[in-house]
Amino acid sequence: MIDFKEEIAKKISAITNIGFDEIKQYIEIPPNVEMGDYTFPCFKLAKELKKSPQVIAEEIKPQISGELIEKVEVVGGYLNIFIKKSAFVVDVMNEAIAHGKNYGRTLEKNDKTIVIDYSSPNIAKPFHIGHLRSTVIGNALYKIYKFLGYNVIGVNHLGDWGMGVCRTIAGYNMWKDEYDFSENPINAILQIYVRYNNIEKEDPDFKIHATNVLKKLEDNDEETTKIWKWIIDVSLQNYQKVYKLMNCEFDSYNGEAFYNDKMDRVVNELKAKNLLVESEGAMVVMMDEDIPPCMILTSQGTTIYATRDLAALLYRIDNYNFDKCLYVVASEQSLHFKQVFETLSKMGYEEYAKRCEHIPFGLVLDEDGHKMGSRKGNATTLEEIFDESISKSLKIIEEKNPDLEDKEEVAKKVGVGAVIFNDLANSRIKDEIFDWNQILSFNGETGPYLQYTYVRTRSILRKAGNVPTEADFSLLNDAESYEVVRLIGSFKETVEAAASKNEPSIISRYLLDLAKSFSRFYNEHQVITDNKSVQDARVLLTKVTGDVIKEGLGLLGIQCPEKM
Ligand code: ARG
Repeated sequence: MIDFKEEIAKKISAITNIGFDEIKQYIEIPPNVEMGDYTFPCFKLAKELKKSPQVIAEEIKPQISGELIEKVEVVGGYLNIFIKKSAFVVDVMNEAIAHGKNYGRTLEKNDKTIVIDYSSPNIAKPFHIGHLRSTVIGNALYKIYKFLGYNVIGVNHLGDWGMGVCRTIAGYNMWKDEYDFSENPINAILQIYVRYNNIEKEDPDFKIHATNVLKKLEDNDEETTKIWKWIIDVSLQNYQKVYKLMNCEFDSYNGEAFYNDKMDRVVNELKAKNLLVESEGAMVVMMDEDIPPCMILTSQGTTIYATRDLAALLYRIDNYNFDKCLYVVASEQSLHFKQVFETLSKMGYEEYAKRCEHIPFGLVLDEDGHKMGSRKGNATTLEEIFDESISKSLKIIEEKNPDLEDKEEVAKKVGVGAVIFNDLANSRIKDEIFDWNQILSFNGETGPYLQYTYVRTRSILRKAGNVPTEADFSLLNDAESYEVVRLIGSFKETVEAAASKNEPSIISRYLLDLAKSFSRFYNEHQVITDNKSVQDARVLLTKVTGDVIKEGLGLLGIQCPEKM
């Protein structure tokens, strides 16, 4: 594919005698087509060339023309560059057709390894809405990096250890006969936990039961370990159901317990570097910044969350030698990750500490602005939320298209896709609003709208009958087609931008733009016409648009039905 940006950079670099890389990084894509396909902000060179941006622009303008460039306009200190549309359209379309399913994908593996720590729920509870965002965002990043050829390792750092699960086990030991574990064991387990906790709140001495369980687990007591493993199994069964729906996968389920025998190393290395200091009976590492110290051992001498994260980091360094380690975890844990990364750095792993990044995100709020799950009556488990979304979708489909085959399967894709897209529609740091009317709307900025656009492209292809393998794409010479092609041409760049900012919403916004411009094209122009050559070009434009929407949604973890 012709890299127009590169070609323009080469020219400006030759004209100004300023390095190609520097020029290339200044070239921008303007927000709308009236301002050209590329724009060059000449003020970036003003200092170096000791000239005003205006003068620089006027000097470059007459020298930059050529076979790829249609015209150049100087606006303010900007050089707005319009490329020859037909050359661009033909080039993008041929490229997309030639690569088919792999369009935009990096086929040669690169040698970079990225560990992504995401989802990571705490066992002994049903999958809670609180872990929706980590799962959705992490899953999208996992797929995005794979698409770009990275070696990606998805880790589910299960919260499978500590006082939480020990409370549940203690309660189970006392009251197991009162509950039925045959139907929905995870709920019975949750009830036991809640009951135990309520008593402990009133009577702090009650904690001793859970503390005793923790001791037994640490001593590998057979009976206690058996119950613990059973709780993990039951929890994972619940999570797997949801992961399957979400099309979400992991390469490792090494949770907190996996590091039980790897904690001494953390403590020993910290001691060897004289980093452990006593503070109110606990052992901590002091931080440079104005933040609280990182606790490593409690006053009882037990390890905690941060200690386990450090052990996990040493393990990931040894086993994956990562170039990046991303933690997709709510912004509430920002301080925790600062402390962990700084401690790792002080331990002598500065290079790896720099490669670690916390990827925070905002809350999930209901339509009244309350944190989801905090009020009675709201669905709070992911299973419930997806069930509700799927059944609502089924209802809509039954109204709109009662004769559709496989309605249940379609409703699954639409219902799950709707929830996922809502989560990824805006930048992750913003709070997400969970409003059913919004989420499932077929014509808002939603997952169903995008799936529907895809389905429409497929139905156009069916109507056209035969999908050609090539066409004269210079016939796509109207403004609406051009806008669609322009977006198709920037698919790869968009995925790269999403990866470099760890921001899947960049792809969501892109897909909405693509779908909207396709609708404009489709409203203005007949795909099926008497002019066979024009029809071929438009049919292929329709096909490629559908392919890119499907691929892009796939990167977000959303599947497309063929009909809906
Ligand atoms: N289980 C934790 C929680 O629910 C999230 C774990 C995130 N990953 C990590 N390596 N700390 O809060």
